[in-house]
Amino acid sequence: MKKIELNFLLFFILASIVSLFSCTKDKTPYLADPNCVDTVSFSASVLPILQQNCFSCHGVGNTTGFVFSNHVNISSQSDAIIGAMQNQGFQLMPKGGPQLPDSTIQTIKCWIVQGKLDN
Ligand code: HEC
Repeated sequence: MKKIELNFLLFFILASIVSLFSCTKDKTPYLADPNCVDTVSFSASVLPILQQNCFSCHGVGNTTGFVFSNHVNISSQSDAIIGAMQNQGFQLMPKGGPQLPDSTIQTIKCWIVQGKLDN
């Protein structure tokens, strides 16, 4: 094999390896969110947000069919909660609006991304 052909072959192999590694890296899902640097506290952040904005209608004994009062029922319904806050796949909540501030919604998102800790 001529030297120049060998160089092309080497280049091709190296390029394949590099692109293989960059693909694997892209698949790392959550570390990519630069907004979730600090660990969100359920008791200090998530619960108070729901208490202030949702409990009046979704506290224990309400008639909406959705109770968000503790870690178990909030974490098991987190898809619906974040969906409703963003009006994505669920009707906008708090009912009648306005939508909560972006920073508040981001706090809930980070808590979900971090594994819905009971902290
Ligand atoms: C003023 C009362 C009220 C407040 C405040 C409220 N909700 Fe609701 N929510 C309702 C009612 C009533 C329903 C049942 C559906 C309906 O009748 O519109 C509901 C339904 C939902 C649903 C199901 C929606 C669907 O499309 O299936 C979710 C999820 C929800 N609420 C989340 C929340 C969250 C999260 C908050 C706080 C950010 C909140 N709600 C605040 C009254 C309220």
